[in-house]
Amino acid sequence: MTGRLEGRTALVSGAARGIGAAIARLFAAEGARVAITDIRDREGEALAAELTAVGHHAFYRHLDVSSRAAWDAARQETENRYGPVDILVSNAFTMTQPALADLTEREWSQSLQVNLTGAFHGIRSVLPGMQEHGSGSVVAISATNGNETALPANAAYQPAKAALSSLIRHVAVTYGHDGIRANAVHPGGTRTAMLAEEGILPAVEAIAVSFPIPRLGEPDDIARAALFLASDEAAYITGTSLVVDGGASVGTTFPTQENIS
Ligand SMILES: NC(=O)c1ccc[n+]([C@@H]2O[C@H](COP(=O)([O-])OP(=O)(O)OC[C@H]3O[C@@H](n4cnc5c(N)ncnc54)[C@H](O)[C@@H]3O)[C@@H](O)[C@H]2O)c1
Repeated sequence: MTGRLEGRTALVSGAARGIGAAIARLFAAEGARVAITDIRDREGEALAAELTAVGHHAFYRHLDVSSRAAWDAARQETENRYGPVDILVSNAFTMTQPALADLTEREWSQSLQVNLTGAFHGIRSVLPGMQEHGSGSVVAISATNGNETALPANAAYQPAKAALSSLIRHVAVTYGHDGIRANAVHPGGTRTAMLAEEGILPAVEAIAVSFPIPRLGEPDDIARAALFLASDEAAYITGTSLVVDGGASVGTTFPTQENIS
């Protein structure tokens, strides 16, 4: 049996840990050759070693997504090793917690630079090759926060994620005739180190009991959605946003004694 991404080359940003690492693992297991990129070199190298040790094709490269030149260099190395990039997963991000009144201009700019401009650089870098090839799939890991929902914090993160999903729709309508599909995944709260580092894991876990599917998302939940959108199974799907949040953005149930105990 062949994998769902057999023979494909995928470049994943922010792939050293969390959702990006789950995507890299799943894509490699499904037969893709994976360029793992991040700014966390130790974790990225370890993941590449883990995947190659079991016979998968993967390598790690340092890539700060806010640099256009770094994107072009990473894309070039990927092409040199594996051939044209078939799949781009734009996943890297930086979190800023402040609400609007407390947000500095620097924090605002940094958030847009990584969360939005980083994706712009990445998409722009792979587009010419995909056009030449006549095919390609771009998947952006966006968020429900900023799209389906708003939270009373993350004032720089939410507009960046809304604009990212808008950018994806733009790519879909502009390059569809070139055989390029572009879609977004909108995760809800997902159990990664980021949530723990931000100190919000306990709060998000507590809220999750009231979701229609009463638990927090796991990185693999998001990776499976990215796999579907990247694969030929989604051949007629472009410009869409796939919400993966246990139904949280549709509505929450009232806590009952059973679901909070
Ligand atoms: N975890 C959640 O609850 C959740 C919810 C909605 C959306 N998301 C989205 O999922 C994606 C992954 O989030 P995660 O929870 O796995 O976070 P994470 O912090 O575990 O992973 C993010 C990765 O991005 C990397 N990164 C940060 N700045 C970078 C830069 N300038 N260049 C390259 N890499 C950089 C980090 O080093 C890290 O490895 C993000 O796009 C995030 O917005 C997460």
